Amino acid sequence: MRHLIDPRDFSAEETAALLALAQRIKQQPEAYANVAERKKLATLFYEPSTRTRLSFEAAMLNLGGRTLGFPAEQVSSASKGESIADTVRVVGCYADIIAMRHPKEGAPLRASQFSPVPIVNAGDGGHNHPSQTMLDLMTILERKGRLDHLTIGFCGDLKFGRPVHSLVKKLSGRPGIRFCFISPEELRIPGYLAEEVLRPTETPFEETDSLEASLPTLDVLYMTRVQRERFFNEEDYVRLKDTYTLTREKLSAAPADMPVLHPLPRVGEISLDVDDDPRAAYFDQVRNGVYMRMAILMALLGLNDPLTGEKVIAC
Ligand code: NCD
Repeated sequence: MRHLIDPRDFSAEETAALLALAQRIKQQPEAYANVAERKKLATLFYEPSTRTRLSFEAAMLNLGGRTLGFPAEQVSSASKGESIADTVRVVGCYADIIAMRHPKEGAPLRASQFSPVPIVNAGDGGHNHPSQTMLDLMTILERKGRLDHLTIGFCGDLKFGRPVHSLVKKLSGRPGIRFCFISPEELRIPGYLAEEVLRPTETPFEETDSLEASLPTLDVLYMTRVQRERFFNEEDYVRLKDTYTLTREKLSAAPADMPVLHPLPRVGEISLDVDDDPRAAYFDQVRNGVYMRMAILMALLGLNDPLTGEKVIAC
Protein backbone atom coordinates (compact mmCIF):
# COMPACT_ATOMS: atom_id res chain seq x y z
CA MET A 1 0.00 0.00 0.00
CA ARG A 2 1.28 3.48 -0.93
CA HIS A 3 0.62 6.82 0.78
CA LEU A 4 1.37 10.38 -0.39
CA ILE A 5 2.88 12.20 2.57
CA ASP A 6 5.97 13.95 1.20
CA PRO A 7 6.15 15.38 -2.36
CA ARG A 8 9.18 13.12 -2.96
CA ASP A 9 7.20 9.94 -2.23
CA PHE A 10 6.65 9.59 -5.98
CA SER A 11 9.86 8.82 -7.91
CA ALA A 12 10.79 10.87 -10.99
CA GLU A 13 9.28 8.16 -13.25
CA GLU A 14 6.10 7.97 -11.19
CA THR A 15 5.80 11.76 -11.19
CA ALA A 16 6.11 11.82 -14.97
CA ALA A 17 3.49 9.04 -15.24
CA LEU A 18 1.08 10.99 -13.00
CA LEU A 19 1.58 14.20 -14.98
CA ALA A 20 0.87 12.31 -18.20
CA LEU A 21 -2.23 10.67 -16.70
CA ALA A 22 -3.59 14.01 -15.43
CA GLN A 23 -3.12 15.40 -18.94
CA ARG A 24 -4.97 12.41 -20.48
CA ILE A 25 -7.82 12.89 -18.01
CA LYS A 26 -7.96 16.59 -18.90
CA GLN A 27 -8.24 15.74 -22.62
CA GLN A 28 -10.75 12.92 -22.22
CA PRO A 29 -12.49 13.11 -18.83
CA GLU A 30 -15.41 10.91 -19.94
CA ALA A 31 -13.06 7.92 -20.30
CA TYR A 32 -12.44 8.07 -16.54
CA ALA A 33 -16.02 8.67 -15.38
CA ASN A 34 -16.48 5.21 -13.81
CA VAL A 35 -13.02 3.98 -12.87
CA ALA A 36 -13.57 4.41 -9.10
CA GLU A 37 -17.16 3.19 -9.01
CA ARG A 38 -18.03 1.99 -5.47
CA LYS A 39 -14.83 3.48 -4.01
CA LYS A 40 -15.09 5.98 -1.17
CA LEU A 41 -12.85 8.90 -0.26
CA ALA A 42 -12.90 10.28 3.30
CA THR A 43 -11.75 13.88 3.74
CA LEU A 44 -10.56 14.52 7.31
CA PHE A 45 -9.86 18.26 7.54
CA TYR A 46 -8.69 19.64 10.88
CA GLU A 47 -7.89 23.04 9.28
CA PRO A 48 -9.87 25.36 6.98
CA SER A 49 -9.85 24.65 3.25
CA THR A 50 -11.86 25.51 0.16
CA ARG A 51 -9.92 24.24 -2.85
CA THR A 52 -8.11 21.25 -1.50
CA ARG A 53 -11.07 19.56 0.18
CA LEU A 54 -13.61 20.36 -2.52
CA SER A 55 -11.27 19.44 -5.36
CA PHE A 56 -10.44 16.08 -3.77
CA GLU A 57 -14.17 15.49 -3.43
CA ALA A 58 -14.86 16.68 -6.99
CA ALA A 59 -12.02 14.44 -8.20
CA MET A 60 -13.55 11.36 -6.54
CA LEU A 61 -17.03 12.20 -7.85
CA ASN A 62 -15.60 12.67 -11.38
CA LEU A 63 -14.12 9.16 -11.14
CA GLY A 64 -17.54 7.72 -10.25
CA GLY A 65 -16.74 7.30 -6.55
CA ARG A 66 -18.32 8.74 -3.40
CA THR A 67 -17.14 10.90 -0.54
CA LEU A 68 -17.65 11.38 3.19
CA GLY A 69 -15.80 13.30 5.86
CA PHE A 70 -15.63 16.35 8.09
CA PRO A 71 -14.50 19.91 7.32
CA ALA A 72 -13.34 21.03 10.79
CA GLU A 73 -11.84 19.60 13.96
CA GLN A 74 -14.73 20.92 16.10
CA VAL A 75 -17.24 18.60 14.44
CA SER A 76 -15.09 15.47 14.78
CA SER A 77 -14.21 13.31 17.79
CA ALA A 78 -10.77 14.97 17.85
CA SER A 79 -12.58 17.63 19.88
CA LYS A 80 -13.29 14.89 22.47
CA GLY A 81 -9.61 13.97 22.54
CA GLU A 82 -9.46 11.07 20.08
CA SER A 83 -5.98 10.35 18.70
CA ILE A 84 -5.10 10.47 15.01
CA ALA A 85 -4.17 6.80 15.17
CA ASP A 86 -7.61 5.77 16.42
CA THR A 87 -9.43 8.10 14.03
CA VAL A 88 -7.78 6.62 10.93
CA ARG A 89 -8.21 3.04 12.17
CA VAL A 90 -11.92 3.81 12.41
CA VAL A 91 -12.31 5.81 9.19
CA GLY A 92 -10.32 3.11 7.36
CA CYS A 93 -13.35 0.85 7.99
CA TYR A 94 -15.62 3.32 6.16
CA ALA A 95 -13.50 4.48 3.22
CA ASP A 96 -10.96 3.18 0.67
CA ILE A 97 -8.67 6.22 0.85
CA ILE A 98 -8.27 9.22 3.18
CA ALA A 99 -7.20 12.81 2.44
CA MET A 100 -6.11 14.54 5.66
CA ARG A 101 -5.27 18.16 6.46
CA HIS A 102 -3.88 18.94 9.90
CA PRO A 103 -2.25 21.93 11.61
CA LYS A 104 0.40 19.67 13.19
CA GLU A 105 3.41 18.86 11.04
CA GLY A 106 3.79 15.11 10.78
CA ALA A 107 0.14 14.24 11.62
CA PRO A 108 -0.57 12.61 8.21
CA LEU A 109 2.68 10.64 8.49
CA ARG A 110 1.57 9.30 11.86
CA ALA A 111 -1.84 8.53 10.39
CA SER A 112 -0.17 6.50 7.61
CA GLN A 113 1.53 4.29 10.23
CA PHE A 114 -1.85 3.14 11.56
CA SER A 115 -4.18 3.42 8.60
CA PRO A 116 -5.54 0.33 6.83
CA VAL A 117 -6.06 2.47 3.68
CA PRO A 118 -3.87 4.97 1.74
CA ILE A 119 -3.42 8.44 3.28
CA VAL A 120 -2.95 11.59 1.20
CA ASN A 121 -1.42 14.51 3.05
CA ALA A 122 -3.63 17.46 2.12
CA GLY A 123 -1.36 19.89 4.02
CA ASP A 124 0.35 19.50 7.42
CA GLY A 125 1.17 22.73 9.24
CA GLY A 126 3.91 24.68 7.48
CA HIS A 127 5.44 21.46 6.21
CA ASN A 128 4.22 19.71 3.04
CA HIS A 129 1.37 19.88 0.56
CA PRO A 130 2.19 17.23 -2.03
CA SER A 131 -1.02 17.30 -4.09
CA GLN A 132 -0.58 21.07 -4.45
CA THR A 133 2.99 20.41 -5.59
CA MET A 134 1.79 18.00 -8.26
CA LEU A 135 -0.75 20.47 -9.64
CA ASP A 136 1.91 23.20 -9.56
CA LEU A 137 4.18 20.95 -11.65
CA MET A 138 1.34 20.27 -14.09
CA THR A 139 0.74 24.01 -14.51
CA ILE A 140 4.42 24.89 -14.91
CA LEU A 141 4.85 22.07 -17.45
CA GLU A 142 1.84 23.29 -19.46
CA ARG A 143 3.05 26.88 -19.46
CA LYS A 144 6.79 26.36 -19.95
CA GLY A 145 6.95 22.93 -21.64
CA ARG A 146 9.62 21.73 -19.18
CA LEU A 147 10.42 21.20 -15.50
CA ASP A 148 14.19 21.71 -15.91
CA HIS A 149 16.34 24.76 -16.60
CA LEU A 150 14.05 27.24 -14.89
CA THR A 151 14.65 30.10 -12.50
CA ILE A 152 11.69 30.06 -10.14
CA GLY A 153 10.94 33.03 -7.90
CA PHE A 154 9.00 32.47 -4.68
CA CYS A 155 7.62 35.65 -3.14
CA GLY A 156 5.92 36.37 0.19
CA ASP A 157 5.76 34.14 3.27
CA LEU A 158 8.54 31.65 2.63
CA LYS A 159 8.85 30.80 6.33
CA PHE A 160 5.42 29.29 6.89
CA GLY A 161 4.06 28.60 3.39
CA ARG A 162 3.82 24.84 2.89
CA PRO A 163 3.19 24.97 -0.89
CA VAL A 164 6.60 26.68 -1.17
CA HIS A 165 8.43 24.17 1.02
CA SER A 166 6.82 21.28 -0.80
CA LEU A 167 7.57 22.52 -4.35
CA VAL A 168 11.15 23.43 -3.42
CA LYS A 169 11.72 19.88 -2.13
CA LYS A 170 10.28 18.37 -5.29
CA LEU A 171 12.26 20.48 -7.78
CA SER A 172 15.59 20.72 -5.93
CA GLY A 173 18.38 18.93 -7.72
CA ARG A 174 16.67 18.81 -11.11
CA PRO A 175 18.95 19.93 -13.95
CA GLY A 176 19.22 23.70 -14.28
CA ILE A 177 16.69 24.51 -11.53
CA ARG A 178 17.52 27.70 -9.58
CA PHE A 179 15.47 29.49 -6.97
CA CYS A 180 15.10 33.16 -6.13
CA PHE A 181 13.55 33.58 -2.67
CA ILE A 182 11.90 37.00 -2.31
CA SER A 183 10.71 37.85 1.21
CA PRO A 184 11.16 40.22 4.12
CA GLU A 185 13.98 39.20 6.45
CA GLU A 186 11.56 37.67 9.01
CA LEU A 187 9.80 35.45 6.48
CA ARG A 188 12.80 33.81 4.82
CA ILE A 189 12.83 30.07 4.05
CA PRO A 190 13.43 27.89 7.14
CA GLY A 191 17.03 26.86 7.82
CA TYR A 192 16.26 23.15 7.38
CA LEU A 193 15.28 23.70 3.76
CA ALA A 194 18.69 25.21 2.96
CA GLU A 195 20.64 22.67 5.04
CA GLU A 196 18.73 19.47 4.29
CA VAL A 197 17.36 20.07 0.79
CA LEU A 198 19.06 22.86 -1.18
CA ARG A 199 22.71 22.35 -0.18
CA PRO A 200 22.80 18.52 -0.43
CA THR A 201 21.23 18.68 -3.90
CA GLU A 202 23.56 21.57 -4.90
CA THR A 203 20.58 23.66 -5.99
CA PRO A 204 21.60 27.30 -6.62
CA PHE A 205 19.47 29.89 -4.81
CA GLU A 206 19.53 33.52 -3.81
CA GLU A 207 17.62 35.42 -1.16
CA THR A 208 16.45 38.99 -1.68
CA ASP A 209 13.75 41.36 -0.49
CA SER A 210 13.14 43.04 -3.86
CA LEU A 211 10.36 41.75 -6.09
CA GLU A 212 10.90 44.56 -8.63
CA ALA A 213 14.60 43.78 -9.08
CA SER A 214 13.97 40.03 -9.40
CA LEU A 215 11.09 40.07 -11.89
CA PRO A 216 13.14 40.45 -15.11
CA THR A 217 15.31 37.44 -14.17
CA LEU A 218 12.52 34.89 -13.54
CA ASP A 219 11.02 32.11 -15.70
CA VAL A 220 8.21 31.44 -13.19
CA LEU A 221 6.86 33.54 -10.29
CA TYR A 222 5.14 31.83 -7.34
CA MET A 223 3.31 34.34 -5.13
CA THR A 224 2.09 33.43 -1.64
CA ARG A 225 -0.13 34.70 1.14
CA VAL A 226 1.30 35.71 4.51
CA GLN A 227 0.13 32.82 6.73
CA ARG A 228 -1.73 34.65 9.49
CA GLU A 229 -2.72 31.46 11.33
CA ARG A 230 0.93 30.50 11.92
CA PHE A 231 2.06 33.80 13.44
CA PHE A 232 2.63 34.04 17.18
CA ASN A 233 1.34 37.59 17.36
CA GLU A 234 -1.07 39.67 15.33
CA GLU A 235 1.19 42.77 15.29
CA ASP A 236 3.87 40.99 13.27
CA TYR A 237 1.24 39.74 10.84
CA VAL A 238 -0.22 43.23 10.36
CA ARG A 239 3.25 44.69 9.82
CA LEU A 240 4.26 42.09 7.23
CA LYS A 241 1.05 41.23 5.41
CA ASP A 242 1.23 43.92 2.73
CA THR A 243 4.96 43.74 1.99
CA TYR A 244 4.37 42.67 -1.63
CA THR A 245 1.59 43.40 -4.06
CA LEU A 246 1.98 42.29 -7.64
CA THR A 247 0.28 44.76 -9.98
CA ARG A 248 -0.12 44.92 -13.74
CA GLU A 249 2.33 47.81 -13.74
CA LYS A 250 5.05 45.85 -11.91
CA LEU A 251 4.43 42.89 -14.19
CA SER A 252 5.50 44.98 -17.19
CA ALA A 253 9.12 44.42 -16.06
CA ALA A 254 8.71 40.62 -16.20
CA PRO A 255 9.28 38.33 -19.21
CA ALA A 256 6.25 37.99 -21.50
CA ASP A 257 6.14 34.20 -20.93
CA MET A 258 6.61 34.19 -17.14
CA PRO A 259 3.56 32.48 -15.57
CA VAL A 260 2.36 33.82 -12.23
CA LEU A 261 1.32 31.02 -9.89
CA HIS A 262 -0.39 31.30 -6.50
CA PRO A 263 -1.85 28.38 -4.50
CA LEU A 264 -4.75 30.68 -3.39
CA PRO A 265 -6.43 32.04 -1.35
CA ARG A 266 -5.00 35.47 -2.14
CA VAL A 267 -5.57 38.28 0.30
CA GLY A 268 -4.07 41.25 -1.52
CA GLU A 269 -0.68 40.05 -2.81
CA ILE A 270 -1.91 39.95 -6.42
CA SER A 271 -4.05 42.88 -7.48
CA LEU A 272 -7.19 42.18 -9.51
CA ASP A 273 -5.78 43.96 -12.58
CA VAL A 274 -3.33 41.07 -13.03
CA ASP A 275 -6.17 38.56 -13.57
CA ASP A 276 -6.63 39.46 -17.24
CA ASP A 277 -2.94 39.26 -18.02
CA PRO A 278 -2.16 36.10 -20.02
CA ARG A 279 0.61 35.33 -17.52
CA ALA A 280 -1.89 34.86 -14.66
CA ALA A 281 -1.89 31.07 -14.12
CA TYR A 282 -3.55 30.75 -10.70
CA PHE A 283 -6.96 29.77 -12.00
CA ASP A 284 -5.29 27.23 -14.31
CA GLN A 285 -3.84 25.73 -11.14
CA VAL A 286 -7.33 25.41 -9.69
CA ARG A 287 -8.61 23.61 -12.81
CA ASN A 288 -5.56 21.39 -13.04
CA GLY A 289 -5.95 20.53 -9.35
CA VAL A 290 -9.03 18.44 -10.06
CA TYR A 291 -7.34 16.44 -12.87
CA MET A 292 -4.20 15.95 -10.85
CA ARG A 293 -6.15 14.79 -7.79
CA MET A 294 -8.07 12.34 -10.00
CA ALA A 295 -4.70 10.97 -11.12
CA ILE A 296 -3.42 10.76 -7.53
CA LEU A 297 -6.55 8.95 -6.32
CA MET A 298 -6.30 6.47 -9.19
CA ALA A 299 -2.64 5.84 -8.45
CA LEU A 300 -3.05 5.23 -4.72
CA LEU A 301 -6.19 3.12 -5.18
CA GLY A 302 -4.19 0.92 -7.56
CA LEU A 303 -6.65 1.45 -10.41
CA ASN A 304 -5.95 0.69 -14.06
CA ASP A 305 -5.94 3.52 -16.58
CA PRO A 306 -8.75 2.53 -19.00
CA LEU A 307 -6.85 4.10 -21.92
CA THR A 308 -3.58 2.18 -21.40
CA GLY A 309 -4.96 -0.84 -19.49
CA GLU A 310 -2.14 -0.43 -16.94
CA LYS A 311 -1.80 0.64 -13.32
CA VAL A 312 -0.50 4.17 -12.86
CA ILE A 313 2.19 3.24 -10.35
CA ALA A 314 3.24 0.02 -8.63
CA CYS A 315 1.33 -0.34 -5.36
C1 NCD B 1 -2.61 26.70 0.55
C2 NCD B 1 -2.50 25.89 1.82
O1 NCD B 1 -3.50 25.52 2.43
O2 NCD B 1 -1.36 25.59 2.17
N1 NCD B 1 -3.88 26.66 0.00
C3 NCD B 1 -4.20 25.63 -0.83
O3 NCD B 1 -4.22 24.49 -0.44
N2 NCD B 1 -4.45 25.93 -2.10
C4 NCD B 1 -2.04 28.06 0.64
C5 NCD B 1 -2.53 28.99 1.69
O4 NCD B 1 -3.40 28.68 2.50
O5 NCD B 1 -2.00 30.10 1.69
